[in-house]
Amino acid sequence: LTAYESTRDTTLEICTPLELEDHTVQPWPFVSPPKWHLGHTTWFFENFLLEPFFKMDPFDRGFKYIFNSYYESQGARIEQARRGILSRPTLDKVLEYRRHIDRRMREALSTLDRLDEPMRCDFLANLELGLHHEQQHQELLMMDIKAILWHQPGRPAYSFSQAFNENHCSKTNWIPIKEGLYEIGAEDPVFAYDIERPRHKVYLENFEIKDGLVSNRDYLAFIEAGGYSQPRYWLSDGWEWIQRTGASHPLYWRQSENHWFEYGLGGEFELNLNAPVSHVNYYEAAAFAHWSGCRLPTEAEWEVAFCNEARQQLWQWTTSAYHPYPNYLPFNRGFEEYNGKFMVNQIVLRGGCSCTPKNHYRPTYRNFFQPERRWQFSGIRLARSHPGHTTIS
Ligand SMILES: [Fe+2]
Repeated sequence: LTAYESTRDTTLEICTPLELEDHTVQPWPFVSPPKWHLGHTTWFFENFLLEPFFKMDPFDRGFKYIFNSYYESQGARIEQARRGILSRPTLDKVLEYRRHIDRRMREALSTLDRLDEPMRCDFLANLELGLHHEQQHQELLMMDIKAILWHQPGRPAYSFSQAFNENHCSKTNWIPIKEGLYEIGAEDPVFAYDIERPRHKVYLENFEIKDGLVSNRDYLAFIEAGGYSQPRYWLSDGWEWIQRTGASHPLYWRQSENHWFEYGLGGEFELNLNAPVSHVNYYEAAAFAHWSGCRLPTEAEWEVAFCNEARQQLWQWTTSAYHPYPNYLPFNRGFEEYNGKFMVNQIVLRGGCSCTPKNHYRPTYRNFFQPERRWQFSGIRLARSHPGHTTIS
């Protein structure tokens, strides 16, 4: 109950600095309006806990169509790209929905002994997943809020306390890792997503990996060296992306009279050269690594190097495709669709970011996005197979 209440409260706190109108807009098809996140995370508890285990009637029979995200097993739903057309339900109605489901969840948790032992275990397992799911949406909310506010002509700040200017790339050393047999993946009995299991062996060759992330200063050097106009640094799909979009710098950068500015959650400020470069997609990360004479790490290399590290400032692109580990077993109890069906055309990111809830992150955590996406808090960490000359100091 304590975990439930604090997780639910945190989601509301994230939305506190928003105006009413901020809750409804969808500037890109892959961004969801905050109102939708508030409803969808609530629907998860209603649909996967209260209805099946306590036979409760839905709050509103039309909500399943609106707040089902991608579960084919749960029937028809509004297209993701059309979530921003919904003026109804209103934000007030969605907040009433949250309060209603929270009341029902408290009642359910106080009467769990009505369920037999196997049902009780399944309920608690679904509850745990529901809390981790809501935490995932808390980070998605921050990504989407940043995108929504950046689209406003005045570039309003979300919250000055969320400025990330304190983040500096102070570490620039290479960490050598010896070749050998290692293990990666989550061990029982801690909570982890199905895709982090099972723990398994990997063989790594000798490699080196940076202890810090690529800075804005380093990335600006790549831009000034003509990085975005030379196809030899880019993957074919990445070069096609540049031709199609005209991209010439990271997502939230803007150049004005030879000054670079960056939009952050604290508003738009002159580019902090010492901060890690952020909001780059896989193509940009790979091109920068190529230009540097380095490469991106694989996810196994990342996990072996940083298995004891706390959360990082930014997610970091790896070269690893988002695929199942050997002997992968998807979640059951209706959650087969949670992760497994997305295992195509996506790249793994490791490391966590400043907006990842503290008790959500684990070193075995596998985040994943399509290579073109860059509205997530993504940065670059370099690796190399053979120590040698590099343009990065
Ligand atoms: Fe979700």
